[in-house]
Amino acid sequence: MTSDTNSVENDEHVQSTLSKYHLSIRGACNFAYRDVWGPREKSMGDPWSPSNPNGTVILRLAENSLMHEEVGEFIREQMNVLPVDHLTYSTGPRGSRRLRSAAAALLNEQFHSRTRITYDNIIVTPGLASAIDGITFAICNEGDGILIPQPLYNGFNVDIQNRSNVRVVGVKYEGIEGFGGLDDLFRPEVNRLALEATIHHAREEGINVRALLVSNPHNPLGRCYPPETLREFASFCGRNDLHLISDEIYAFSVFPNPQIPMATKFTSILSLDLVGVIYPSRMHVLYGASKDFCANGLRMGFVCTKNEGIMGAMSSIGIFSWSPHILQDAWAAMMENKLWLDRFMAQKRNLMVERYKTTTSFFAKHGIPFYEMNAGLFIWVDLRHLLVAKSAAQQSDHSALRVTSPNGPVFLRRELRIAEICMKNGVMIAPGHVYVPEEYGWFRITFTVGKEALQEGLERFMASIKQVEAERQSWK
Ligand SMILES: Cc1ncc(COP(=O)(O)O)c(C=O)c1O
Repeated sequence: MTSDTNSVENDEHVQSTLSKYHLSIRGACNFAYRDVWGPREKSMGDPWSPSNPNGTVILRLAENSLMHEEVGEFIREQMNVLPVDHLTYSTGPRGSRRLRSAAAALLNEQFHSRTRITYDNIIVTPGLASAIDGITFAICNEGDGILIPQPLYNGFNVDIQNRSNVRVVGVKYEGIEGFGGLDDLFRPEVNRLALEATIHHAREEGINVRALLVSNPHNPLGRCYPPETLREFASFCGRNDLHLISDEIYAFSVFPNPQIPMATKFTSILSLDLVGVIYPSRMHVLYGASKDFCANGLRMGFVCTKNEGIMGAMSSIGIFSWSPHILQDAWAAMMENKLWLDRFMAQKRNLMVERYKTTTSFFAKHGIPFYEMNAGLFIWVDLRHLLVAKSAAQQSDHSALRVTSPNGPVFLRRELRIAEICMKNGVMIAPGHVYVPEEYGWFRITFTVGKEALQEGLERFMASIKQVEAERQSWK
């Protein structure tokens, strides 16, 4: 994917698109390389269900459908049109007073914010994709960079590049002292060293780094950062005059996993005492309804910031895309109704535990390794052994699978082939390379879907793995 609209003169694909459709360079780049949703529309529009057995089981997207009925029912009950609030421009694109107040209360009470958040600190956006796009547009110029620890949520690429043309600067851990495996990605010292090395390289390449963006809980790894690491992030940003953006969209998608009894619980960056570490106006928290409220399609999110400049800059373009206030109020009602909220989250947590157990028991039975997690909607599945020839697969050393290894392109093709075989068998899973990891062979599989869809999806997945194994006989 091209990340730079300044280097497209020699790009034939962009050039032909430019002339064929009479687009801008921006438009041509986006059409040629960045339209991830368009090509997926067909399979997404035909999801498997017992009454649509030929449909696709979608285990690729971070969607939680476990409580769809409850959310649907709640919204239906709330649908009361108040003409002054809902049929006028009302309070405008910053969002409804009601939702912003409910969001502030949530952050004060449930995220345990150290300093008081008020509705003035909240700007509502149609989902977090829009929030990330808006904040990027507000703090970066074209070509600037935002640091993000690898592996990273693939949507960050879209949100940061597609409109603002800002670069994702992946924070790499391979070769960093103290790094030996996935658990180490959450350790404070490892992060400090990795961040320092990355910003140093970025500056050498002339990239103006403006921010660090972290997903806590982590997508795709499904774990939370401990407070010491969050403090390290803040301190690094403070020292380097960067914004710290904490995406906490999975805050209430944390659940107990007996396999990791000491798993880190969720801590919001808002709850830490960071006086003297980072200016309050440089720290921003993102939250949304998509994951924790099982409502990707509601398109509801917000930015919490004490930076009036960001509020103003985002509000200036907010008119182009805002969520209807009637729906904002429906989400506000969910947050205001403590009894409903507690019951909803507890019921959802129980279902997540059950579905996680079903999925991981299935993997264990079929000898599929995976990374145990306790947050998020997906499992980071380890198919590294399938990428190498059978004779080499016994070795535990996977260094050949590093993305920087000379055979990297071969392994990338095999990773893509596995995802393609799954797709042909009617189950959509995510090949790891889209999350910009440092080695090939990982896949992200969502487990928060209906019981029958999950069963069908896992069976199709295993049928695909058998096919991959047969094909692998010819791999060298
Ligand atoms: C970490 C993270 N941030 C943001 C988003 C975007 O969510 P939405 O735009 O639906 O609010 C997602 C969706 O998968 C995500 O995983």
